[in-house]
Amino acid sequence: MKYVIAPSILSADFTQLGSEIKQTEDNGASFLHFDVMDGMFVPNISFGIPVMKSIRKATRQIMDAHLMVHDPIRYVEAFRDAGADLITVHYEACPDVAKALVKIKDMGLKAGLSINPDTPVGVVREYLEIVDMILVMSVYPGAGGQKFIRESLDRLRDIRRMIQESGRDIDLQIDGGVTLDNMPEIIEAGANIFVAGSAVFTGDIGENVRKCMEIFRKYE
Ligand code: DX5
Ligand code: ZN
Repeated sequence: MKYVIAPSILSADFTQLGSEIKQTEDNGASFLHFDVMDGMFVPNISFGIPVMKSIRKATRQIMDAHLMVHDPIRYVEAFRDAGADLITVHYEACPDVAKALVKIKDMGLKAGLSINPDTPVGVVREYLEIVDMILVMSVYPGAGGQKFIRESLDRLRDIRRMIQESGRDIDLQIDGGVTLDNMPEIIEAGANIFVAGSAVFTGDIGENVRKCMEIFRKYE
């Protein structure tokens, strides 16, 4: 199992964004998690296409676009053009989930499907033939720095089992309240891609990423 840290730039200092991204990349973070919030699907508004276009030039990391956006199919081409490598849409935000996922795949990108904490895990089953990644939200989306919802561990175990039964190589991403302390039990529950905002961008960024990589090495 390949474990990956995906720093969420929502928690970065936007006056130092380029250098902070570089610190994550130089220390081993192969993904960059890009939290798009539209003020409709989630109360908050974050950032969008111009910011992605700009940071695309600054990093070779896999640009992991998390669209917390109502009816996200409207924007998938624009985010592809801005440099996204992977686009995740929310089950709760799509009038037609399969249509959105297929459109992302047809553009040659990886497709992710995210579920909120109170969405039953069984809803992902019918999409396991299409997706490249399932994102389990361990907070209610809309902000960084929230507390990890512990029921997410059982949800990860259930989905990891469904992925194994599908026989497909699907990544399982966890997002929200991930810290160095809870990372080991999250690994044991079956996640392999770890979004971390405040745990990476608070304090020494390079050291935080290196500590994540040290934890991963114990399990690889
Ligand atoms: C929340 C976002 C998360 C968040 C993670 O809506 O999807 O990616 O930025 O931040 P932390 O790791 O601080 O919870
Ligand atoms: Zn996110």
